[in-house]
Amino acid sequence: MKSFADEDPQLAGVHWVQDAGACSGVYVLEDGLTLIDAGNMYGLIDELQDLGSLDRLQRILVTHCHFDHVGGMEEIFQVVSPDVYVHPVTREYLRLLRAPFPEFFDALEKDGKLRLIQDGETIPGGRPMKVLHTPGHTAGDLCFFDNQSGALFCGDAVLPYRFKLGPALSRPDEVCGGRMKDKLQSLKRLLGLPVRHLFSGHGEPVLHKGGGQIKLSLYGLYQSLHEDRPELAWAAMGHDLVELGQLDEARQCWAKASQLACEAPEVKRLRDALGGSEGEAAH
Ligand SMILES: [Fe+2]
Ligand SMILES: [Fe+2]
Repeated sequence: MKSFADEDPQLAGVHWVQDAGACSGVYVLEDGLTLIDAGNMYGLIDELQDLGSLDRLQRILVTHCHFDHVGGMEEIFQVVSPDVYVHPVTREYLRLLRAPFPEFFDALEKDGKLRLIQDGETIPGGRPMKVLHTPGHTAGDLCFFDNQSGALFCGDAVLPYRFKLGPALSRPDEVCGGRMKDKLQSLKRLLGLPVRHLFSGHGEPVLHKGGGQIKLSLYGLYQSLHEDRPELAWAAMGHDLVELGQLDEARQCWAKASQLACEAPEVKRLRDALGGSEGEAAH
């Protein structure tokens, strides 16, 4: 288990049980009061008990319905009975998991342990976190943002850009309602947040430069959508940044697009969105 207080005192009480193979990582907050995701790893309980008794555990926040993020839940419930928070759409997709999980979640619901949460709500506790509904990887994706430290816990909505399996593990899963169009919108929304630290479901946490990872992920998606016309990827990224008011960065995107195809209508539109003076400056 890894801790982060040395890197940023605002992250005191945040710990990470590293992802293993196809299992997601698990984040522990408030020294054991809250978990984000439950992974699906053998021996999770032993790792969690490094912080003391599991009796402290009050809640598990679920980023999405995939088995690698919720499979460890059963093991945890053999010891304690925390509340489990999910988006209503995720609640439905949990019914698609293999036995015994549909029955497991039905039983939680019956016991009043399954809490449905929506975009804009705040998770209670000593580290209040804003809930963001960020569909795209699945339809019920949730991110949790701690405004105080700038920590974003984002499941598979954003994976570290250089993480090799990132594109595969974060792609839209259509079976669970994932859509590329939604993913682009969600990443754009996340780009508007003052994210400092990115705590993803897979790969190493990215400290201090978390916002940059979101930018790279969004640009990476535009690149993959416009493989043969890279100027369109720069133009699309530039338009998003204009809408977010990040004009200096948008200008850089325009400059890149303009070097590749300055007469392309999309590039001209970006120039117009930036105020129309960029063209003269470049030529
Ligand atoms: Fe995952
Ligand atoms: Fe996933």
